[in-house]
Amino acid sequence: EDLQDSDREYIVVVGGLGYIGSHTCLELLKSGYNIVVIDNLSNSFRSVYTRLQTLGKNYFDTRCEPMPQMHLYVSDYRDEAAMKQILGEYVRPHTSHQLLEGEARIESRIRGVIHFGAYKSVSESIQQPLKYYANNVAGLVEFCSILNSFQIKTFVFSSSATVYGSIANSGMPLREEHCTHQEEAFSDHDGVTKTVLGGCTGLTNPYGRTKWMCEAILSDLALADPEWTVLALRYFNPVGCDASGLLREDPRGVPTNLMPVVLRVLTGVSPVLDVFGTDYPTVDGTAVRDFIHVTDLARGHIAALAAAFDGRVPKGFRTYNLGSGKGHSVLDVVSAVESASSSKIPLRILGRREGDVGSCVAMPKRAETELDWKTEKSLETCCRDVCNFLDKFKRPAMPVV
Ligand code: WQD
Repeated sequence: EDLQDSDREYIVVVGGLGYIGSHTCLELLKSGYNIVVIDNLSNSFRSVYTRLQTLGKNYFDTRCEPMPQMHLYVSDYRDEAAMKQILGEYVRPHTSHQLLEGEARIESRIRGVIHFGAYKSVSESIQQPLKYYANNVAGLVEFCSILNSFQIKTFVFSSSATVYGSIANSGMPLREEHCTHQEEAFSDHDGVTKTVLGGCTGLTNPYGRTKWMCEAILSDLALADPEWTVLALRYFNPVGCDASGLLREDPRGVPTNLMPVVLRVLTGVSPVLDVFGTDYPTVDGTAVRDFIHVTDLARGHIAALAAAFDGRVPKGFRTYNLGSGKGHSVLDVVSAVESASSSKIPLRILGRREGDVGSCVAMPKRAETELDWKTEKSLETCCRDVCNFLDKFKRPAMPVV
């Protein structure tokens, strides 16, 4: 009966059962938004939806408030027929007046879309570039065309600090202006100003190029049709999990990101943590990153939507760094996890990993001033929340394979 409620409005979350997507769905529910989750389960599990229902119910029951609506469609955002079918279920019926006056314009009950639906493995993108360009780039083009036909034009895009490419090596905090899609002058680390046509230099992998291309496509779309509001959120390094311990980073396949690998060592799945490079020009020679709690990151999406809905950001395309602005090294992360877990992480020192940069830290000022958002949780909190999850789902230390 809810679908017939012609006034209820929704936010569509593509990839809403993934790591960042599920945490964002939880924060959307807590903020009172009704949500439509579209996920093809290529890198997530349907059980996450059940846990979201549990978390949502617990949250609203304790407040004696009704839980917002949440619908799940297990579907691929590239399936055009399926997308049209789903979005068609959220179109307001035409009034007789509109029909009589020939004003039968589509009016959607979808207020906005948050798009997480992309493959995200740097190493896999190097092995299978066409898979990444087809899904991340071609898929986006078709999906935005469908949104356009339903007059859905508020779009929050999951981008990445990887678009900064080798600029990140400068060691300076990265500002959005370092990477835009007009002819751009930027000064690299030695102060030499170069002018590059069409954006960033030194993108180090196909995955990063898909994110850069998607930003360029969305920028062009917003230039062509000023009705579009597109906020491209450039994530730095998401880590941690919801304090409940019921949501976490749970990719299919073997993770390559630092924190999930550290946890594999902590739980005995891997014998040691390989440290890729100790000769970077950083505080301790290991690479430095801007680690951001996934709940802070999720709340950045709520802040972006709110800013779009209440007009605090103009229509058009705009990028925002979602990071803490603080850098921590690989060894800092190891120490923080060891403290939170009262365990020792055995290390194996190796050479640098292909495609890595030495330092990548945000300057998050624009998000703070324009979205009224900044991180609140520390790296220590990230590690504590992850260890809380491990305790909840205590996994016996598995035999080292
Ligand atoms: C961080 C540091 C590694 C694993 C990538 C993507 C980025 C985003 C986040 C999607 C590096 C070192 C890692 C290990 C290690 N993904 N490391 N041993 O490479 O900064 O960013 O993931 O949006 O787009 O590029 O994150 O966690 O893989 O690595 O020493 O077993 O940890 O060399 O210096 P990265 P990461």
